[in-house]
Amino acid sequence: MTPHINAKKGEIAKTVIMPGDPLRAKFIAENYLEDYQLVSNVRGIDVYTGFYKEKKLTIMASGMGIPSMGIYSYELFKFYEVDNIIRIGSCGSYDAKINLYDLILVTESYSQSNYANEQNGSNDKIIKSDDYLNAKIEENINNKYFKGKIYCSEAFYKERAYQEFAEAGCLGVEMETFALFHNAKVFNKKAACLLTVSDSLVTKEKTSSREREQNFTEMIEIALNTVVNL
Ligand code: HPA
Repeated sequence: MTPHINAKKGEIAKTVIMPGDPLRAKFIAENYLEDYQLVSNVRGIDVYTGFYKEKKLTIMASGMGIPSMGIYSYELFKFYEVDNIIRIGSCGSYDAKINLYDLILVTESYSQSNYANEQNGSNDKIIKSDDYLNAKIEENINNKYFKGKIYCSEAFYKERAYQEFAEAGCLGVEMETFALFHNAKVFNKKAACLLTVSDSLVTKEKTSSREREQNFTEMIEIALNTVVNL
């Protein structure tokens, strides 16, 4: 048990799939897992461990933002000896060619966050995801997808323009990868992130929460099938 997870050691699988939203974690467990159990529910963050195509895995939400992802991924890697975390989330697009519902596989996370420095003194501003996990994910994607750097923001509502982050080579924006990739690096573990575009900073289009939910299924299935092949 940790301050934020009340599962026993061994109740969390070696690979964890992390959506941001606790309701999405519940949706994945209920619709895809067999023989699953709720192994922790501190602060309404349900943690489900079960089987998909006979492979044991855990589904747990990260919550929103770097600090929340920072806490949960740290505890999973360090105290529960998790080896792989695959984040599945949504992002805003910075690129006119990247539309609503497009998929982005994140190769690196750029952030102006102080998280890494505060956590262990690192001066990293760009942190890579794991090449092996990314290759496994790519084996399971059948449709078009984008691959590249993402900006990891600490402010969802910004007065500041996004263009400087686009000019720095970022395809879009989300809020959790920087903490996840940093913690994976600290513990020499593997982390990856697959995103679905939920809004465009360029055209200002947005998906409804209902549409977002339906479109998430493609990404969920890619992540689940990736875990089977690990
Ligand atoms: N900003 C930050 N995070 C996000 C966004 C956004 O526009 N869309 C989805 N996650």
